[in-house]
Amino acid sequence: MTTNFKSNDNVVQDINSTGYFPISFEELESTAKQTLPAPAFSYIFSGAGGGETMRKNATAFAKYSIVPRFLNNVSNIDSSITLFGRTYPSPLLLSPVGVLKLANEMGDIAVARAAARHQIPFIQSTVSSYSIEDVAQATNGSPKWFQLYWSNQEEISFNMVKRAEKAGYEAIVLTVDTITLGWREADMRHRFSPLALGYGQGNYESDKVFLSTLEKYDSEAILQGIIDNINHPTLNWKHVAKLKKRTSLPILLKGILHPEDALLAIEHGVDGIIVSNHGGRQLDGVISSIDALPDVVKSVNGQIPVLYDSGIRRGIDVLKAIALGADAVLIGRPFVYSLAVGGEAGVHQFLANFLQDLQTSMMLAGVSNLKELRSLKMVRS
Ligand code: GLV
Repeated sequence: MTTNFKSNDNVVQDINSTGYFPISFEELESTAKQTLPAPAFSYIFSGAGGGETMRKNATAFAKYSIVPRFLNNVSNIDSSITLFGRTYPSPLLLSPVGVLKLANEMGDIAVARAAARHQIPFIQSTVSSYSIEDVAQATNGSPKWFQLYWSNQEEISFNMVKRAEKAGYEAIVLTVDTITLGWREADMRHRFSPLALGYGQGNYESDKVFLSTLEKYDSEAILQGIIDNINHPTLNWKHVAKLKKRTSLPILLKGILHPEDALLAIEHGVDGIIVSNHGGRQLDGVISSIDALPDVVKSVNGQIPVLYDSGIRRGIDVLKAIALGADAVLIGRPFVYSLAVGGEAGVHQFLANFLQDLQTSMMLAGVSNLKELRSLKMVRS
C-alpha cells in the first residue's frame, strides 16, 4: 500500500477524539504501571534474571546509526512487505503474547481487532486467553498467524495447528527458546503465575485432543494439564521435521540467535526465522537480538525471510532492523501496555501512532520503500 504524506496533525486529532493516550513508550509503560495490579505489571515488564539482556535489547539499538539521504522526493511512502506470497501494508507484526486477559478482559480479541484495522498480522499465542476460533470469529479475514508451544503430548500440538489452519491462519510460529520458563525473579517474589491462574487456557479448554488426555474435565485438571504439557525440554530438530509433515502452512522458528541454528532451520525445511531473545525474558545474559541479527542475516543469505523481535520501541528501531537485513519486525510489550491503558482503542491508537512514526522516519531517512531502506548505509559505533 502506498500512502501519501500526511501531516503529524492526524495523530493529534485521533488522540483528541479518543481522549488522552500516551505517545512515548516510556509514558505508555508508566501509565500501564499505574493501571495494572503490581504482579500483573511486573509479569509483563520484567526480563529474566537481573534484566541484563532486556536492557541490552533496548540500548544496543543506539550502537547502530543510519546515514540518511536527502533530495529524494519522499512524498509517496510504500512500506508494504510480501511474506509467503501475501502482501501486508507495513513491515510490522504483533509478537505472540499469551495470557492477555491479564492486561484487559477482552485480551486477544481486542488486540486482534485493533491489528485487523491496520492489516497487521496478529500472532496468537498457544497460551492465549481466548481460543483460535474465538479470535478468528471476531476478526474474520484479517491476517493471523499461530504461535506454537510444543506439547509433551504432541498430538495436542498437531491438533492446535490443524485448528489454526481450519480457521484461516496463515503461518505457524514455533517458539524454540521457551522449552522451560526463564528465571523470573519478580514473578517468584509475587508468587505469581498467570498460567496457574487460568489466564492462558483459551486454546486448551477448547481442544478435544487435550481434553481427551485428562482424567477429569474440571478447571483444576485443565490447569494441571497445561502445566504438564507446557515445559518441553525434549524439543529437537526431529520435531520440526514432524511438524513440517503435519501442516501445509509456512513454519517459522522464533528465538533463533545463532547463525548455525539459522542454517539448520533451512536444512530442516523451515520457511522463515525470527531472531529474538524473547524480549529478554528467557536466558538473561544472552546477546541482544539486534546484535545477533547481522550474522544471522549473513548466514541465511536471502534463502528464507528473517524477521526481527525484541526491543522495538519506535519507528527508527524498525528502520535500523530492516537496514540490518530484517524482512519484517515484531512488536511486543508496547502493544500489551497499550491494551492495559486503553483496551482495543488503545492498541489501535498505539498502532496508528507507530505507523505514522515509521512513515515520518522513512521520509527523513530519504527512503520511499523497504528496498531502498535495505540499501541504506548503517554505521556501528
Ligand atoms: C511467555 O512466553 C513469557 O514470556 O512470559
